[in-house]
Amino acid sequence: MSEPTSQTSWAIETFDLSHTYGELTALNRLNLQVGRGDIFGFIGSNGAGKTTALKILSLFLRPASGTASIYGYDIHHQGDEIRRLIGYMPDTFGVYKDMLVVEYLDFFGACYQMKRSDRAKKIEEILQLVGLSEKRNDLASHLSRGMQQRLGLARVLIHDPDLLLLDEPASGLDPRARVEMMNILRELQKKGKTILISSHILSELQSLCNRVGIIEKGNLLYCGSTHDLKFRQSVLKTFRVRTLGDSGSALQALKGGSSIEEAQLISCGLNGHGENSHSLSEIRVTLKNGCMDPGQISELLLPSGVKLVHLVQEEISLEQTFLNLTRGEVQ
Ligand SMILES: Nc1ncnc2c1ncn2[C@@H]1O[C@H](COP(=O)(O)OP(=O)(O)OP(=O)(O)O)[C@@H](O)[C@H]1O
Ligand SMILES: [Mg+2]
Repeated sequence: MSEPTSQTSWAIETFDLSHTYGELTALNRLNLQVGRGDIFGFIGSNGAGKTTALKILSLFLRPASGTASIYGYDIHHQGDEIRRLIGYMPDTFGVYKDMLVVEYLDFFGACYQMKRSDRAKKIEEILQLVGLSEKRNDLASHLSRGMQQRLGLARVLIHDPDLLLLDEPASGLDPRARVEMMNILRELQKKGKTILISSHILSELQSLCNRVGIIEKGNLLYCGSTHDLKFRQSVLKTFRVRTLGDSGSALQALKGGSSIEEAQLISCGLNGHGENSHSLSEIRVTLKNGCMDPGQISELLLPSGVKLVHLVQEEISLEQTFLNLTRGEVQ
């Protein structure tokens, strides 16, 4: 094996990676980094450029310009080394019609020039991992959609690659099958694999991925840890505020504050009975960019005679962050 072009701690690094289809710029100077051992979420709307990037990284497509390295090996010059290190699961894959599940996997093992005895052992291990052991002698084309996805994953594991490039592996799966797929990916991470997964199912990526890249119209909007992303977005701080007293006065007082971006009534009801009853309201308050201090909320409420009884910061979800960062543009 030839030496990598540089010693790097990244599993994947792209350098101004660009691609065009005719007039259309599908990837525009992409610079992303995936760390060794990461489960990296590659997030973007339809047509954002995810599949194009994955095809380039798995050497099925030559970029128009720029380059990428996989464990330090350059995609333009060290393809043989890279192919041994990666397993690419495309977004659609044909199943070979008349092959049994074991034959299908054996065929791909043979393509990687694995010894027959090694193949048999590896196939049993992988079937166990993806939960298809009992289907080993079924026709691949007779498997359900979810099982075919798992077989697709099994196929890319046959040569024991370090890096998995998975293009929407959970698409079309029912909720239980998706959870199972995510659990398999967690298992694989524990075994030391690095995983890049593209998906639209953001809530799942949030708990699965330690790092994400957000892409829109071929441009990378963010690349970093999920924690940092939330941190950046939490500059626009949102709080849930519970008040006792007239909800109208509370809203008016909050909306009048110069540091308040938005105040929205979520719910309103009576607390207690008869003369002792109070109007209890729940209000979502978003502070303006750069304003960090929730103390301003209580200061605004004080003159209105409304009592602040509870204040808690809202956790911003990855989904909300994605919507905030992208403008939902489709090319
Ligand atoms: N072979 C092709 N010829 C021409 N245009 C293409 C080709 N493949 C992709 N495109 C265009 O390039 C852009 C990026 O497509 P790509 O498939 O990479 O997006 P994606 O992020 O994977 O989308 P999806 O979420 O729908 O799978 C789209 O505008 C698409 O129409
Ligand atoms: Mg795609």
